[in-house]
Amino acid sequence: MPTLDIALADIPEATPFQPEGWDVLLLRFGEEVSALAPTCPHFGLPLAKGVVRDGTLICPFHHACFDARTGAQSQPPGHGDLRRFEAVVRDGRVQVEVTDGPDHVATAHARQGIDARRFVIAGSGAAADACAHALREGGFEGAIEMISPSGPPLDRTMLSKAVLAGEKSPDDLVLSDAEALADLDVTVIDGTVAGVEPGHVTLTEGGRHAWDGLLLAPGGVPIRPDWPGAGLAGVHVLRSGAEAAALSAAAETARRVVFVGGGFIGMEGALSLAKRGLDVTVVLREEVPLAHVFGKDIGGAIRTEHEEAGVRFVAGAEVKGIAGDAHAEGVALADGSTVPADLVVLALGVRPATASITGLPLAEDGSVATGADLSVPGHPGLYVAGDCATAPTPFGTARIEHWRVALQHGRAVARAFLGADGSSDIPFFWTALGRQYRYLGHAEDWDEIRLDGDPSGAFLAHVVKDGEIRAAITAGRDADLAELHLRMKAAGGPIPA
Ligand SMILES: Cc1cc2nc3c(=O)[nH]c(=O)nc-3n(C[C@H](O)[C@H](O)[C@H](O)COP(=O)(O)OP(=O)(O)OC[C@H]3O[C@@H](n4cnc5c(N)ncnc54)[C@H](O)[C@@H]3O)c2cc1C
Ligand code: FES
Repeated sequence: MPTLDIALADIPEATPFQPEGWDVLLLRFGEEVSALAPTCPHFGLPLAKGVVRDGTLICPFHHACFDARTGAQSQPPGHGDLRRFEAVVRDGRVQVEVTDGPDHVATAHARQGIDARRFVIAGSGAAADACAHALREGGFEGAIEMISPSGPPLDRTMLSKAVLAGEKSPDDLVLSDAEALADLDVTVIDGTVAGVEPGHVTLTEGGRHAWDGLLLAPGGVPIRPDWPGAGLAGVHVLRSGAEAAALSAAAETARRVVFVGGGFIGMEGALSLAKRGLDVTVVLREEVPLAHVFGKDIGGAIRTEHEEAGVRFVAGAEVKGIAGDAHAEGVALADGSTVPADLVVLALGVRPATASITGLPLAEDGSVATGADLSVPGHPGLYVAGDCATAPTPFGTARIEHWRVALQHGRAVARAFLGADGSSDIPFFWTALGRQYRYLGHAEDWDEIRLDGDPSGAFLAHVVKDGEIRAAITAGRDADLAELHLRMKAAGGPIPA
């Protein structure tokens, strides 16, 4: 068993440090040193690039958080605590026995079944998976049922990236397979929830399932406008593993593809298919893609990056239908022109997947308003999470359709059901658009976006409203954004600009 022997003075204070040649991460707090596994349980990336502040270690890539002393994971994504090694500090030297073993340890509780309560989870996506794990980790002894028509939970974020780029299949993206769910003692039911009533749900396929706690996390349904030709063969949407697989297979024989919509899915998908050599056009209503989230400078740089990769844009366009007889042949625009296509992808956003579920107090946009713990006021035991929850955040009440937020929701629901305290965190998401762009906080409008750096190079931008930094965006300055995250977390929300 190799023993690392290093001078205490050679370990920087409160900065993740991985000695060369050693699979261990050292964190020094004065005379105290903690020794942890050096990789993140999310994508296995190096935590030596992370940031430490106020006892929290944050991974700079997708902002998983850990207790810097114990390695316990406090915020997703990824799953499992960091393995901790014993570090002995004596006479100015630090010795760590670096034993073999997995880097990450999931602390699931072995169920004894001594709680008669039943927790039902409708959905098998991000929020659902996180909730099932967190219930068991929190010591829940009762039954858990996961009801969903779409098979095991998978990492949906990779569908527009690795799957469309032809590098992975949806089967490679499973988060918790049948064995993992069986280990958690989760009963998986292939079905669709059609109605929610106090104490039970009904399924489209028939049958009633009783619950003492219910998490409804059905995610979103891609918007399919009522355009002529929208139902033709060759017109795709992208949400599920099956839809991604179908689109990726169709791309094998297609030459020209048009994405309608310049949001995250359209822009990521366009780049992935351009990488495969397809002739790709994005048709969008705005002049600059993603300007409503990132501002015009950063959106413009992203557009240029896509153009350099061969993607064409038809901006300021109004679509009036899909041209073709049996199969899509192009996208017809209001100005009378048609953008030719063998494949059309409607990337127009999602609406909450609640329209076919009865018994829910729906807001106008189809979401359900919840409290901070994701419970639904007036519906004891009912929680709604992920893309269909409109919930309080440190930046105001919002419906946020992003992966890490959905995972946090799932964990928060488990904590609330088990009567534990919730810990709120700052919303965060990432997107792969040639480079990795990362976004912290939440701002629907702003007075100013203060750019530090070059939007086509490395930059950090502060999104400022009423003298406060309400959000921040980066490409290439991940550690700075991670640091800002921990500052916002300490402040409990926006910080002075
Ligand atoms: C292609 C793609 C790429 C993305 N990339 C990113 C990214 O890079 N970064 C990021 O932050 N976010 C990304 N997102 C967004 C992120 O995936 C979602 O915010 C997240 O998956 C929402 O989680 P959820 O649990 O609410 O819903 P989902 O993960 O969509 O899960 C919903 C589940 O509910 C099931 N279901 C639906 N209706 C019912 C019903 N009536 N009864 C039972 N089950 C039902 C569905 O089959 C599914 O299993 C991406 C989304 C897509 C589609
Ligand atoms: S690799 Fe650490 S959060 Fe994704």
